Amino acid sequence: MSAALSLGHAASPRMLEDVPRLRYVVIPPRAQPDFRTAALEGLAEQQPSIPSRFLYDSVGSALFEAITLLHEYYLTRKERSILEAQAANIVAAVGRRIEIVEFGSGSAEKTRLLLGAALQNQKSLRFVPIDISQAALQSSAVSLLNEHPELDLVAIAAEYRDALQSLPVTSVPRLFLFLGSNIGNFPRLDAQSFLAGIADQMRSEDRLLVGIDLIKDPPIIEQAYNDPAGVTAAFNKNLLSRVNRELGGEFDLTGFSHHAPYCPESAKVEMRLVADCNQWVRIEGMKGSLRFKKGDYIHTEDSHKYSLDGFQKMSGDACLTMEGQWLDEDKWFALTLLRKI
Ligand code: TRP
Repeated sequence: MSAALSLGHAASPRMLEDVPRLRYVVIPPRAQPDFRTAALEGLAEQQPSIPSRFLYDSVGSALFEAITLLHEYYLTRKERSILEAQAANIVAAVGRRIEIVEFGSGSAEKTRLLLGAALQNQKSLRFVPIDISQAALQSSAVSLLNEHPELDLVAIAAEYRDALQSLPVTSVPRLFLFLGSNIGNFPRLDAQSFLAGIADQMRSEDRLLVGIDLIKDPPIIEQAYNDPAGVTAAFNKNLLSRVNRELGGEFDLTGFSHHAPYCPESAKVEMRLVADCNQWVRIEGMKGSLRFKKGDYIHTEDSHKYSLDGFQKMSGDACLTMEGQWLDEDKWFALTLLRKI
């Protein structure tokens, strides 16, 4: 496999053209409102909001990487500890010779544990990382290929649902990955239809490994989203900096605070930017100003937590059944292995 394949008008992946062992597929994202349109619309609503996809510009992505290193943000650490202990068992549950497909691969840092485990059983391995960020895909592809001469990569820069329609044909069982509790950032019904969409493309021999953050003592969850060093606050507030930088906004960053309350009834953390005092905010090109009273907030993202039963039920509704589950010693995080019913 050598020639790089590039579709559509998206920035061509020059850096990676003609790299052996790499095929690069770009599916341009469907038209979505740009930052200005989405932010102005969201901020003008009764409950102001800014869509969470704008959290991850280069500054935001770097801050999120820093979050994953925080002690309070147990999710990454716990998931890694499960993978360190169980990667060989997980891979063995799929087959002697497999292929790995990952949704939202990012830096693919934890995935390396599974790639390494698979390569204990087979001489070569195809890995299909899927990410909307071309930059993240390119840099992880380069380092993975350098680390593992046994790897063949088909890197797909696309939205998940588009990537699902463009998976390479294969004759070996596939292990699909959706790690990091990313499923928690979908509203519950969207999470179910995302799972159903994967199930639709799965054959009976394929498996899906999902990382889920489990319901637990609320203060533990709240600390994970509100570290004392303020990294998470900086990550959330970067949205306001982006409005200032990119849209000519005049948000006073000292006039808003990051809050992340966990609601046990709905089992979700709500990420908010709360106004510390009454204020008006102007944004270039906007008619009038935005008015915030003390305590009003901008909603930025939700993070849903699951019980094992609740997740099992949702998986069943998506035509998937649980075949294995692995927890960390505190039972804070779970990796669940699903197959198609
Ligand atoms: N995927 C992350 C999660 O839900 C996102 C996240 C972590 C986040 N900390 C945040 C989003 C703070 C907004 C604000 O765990």
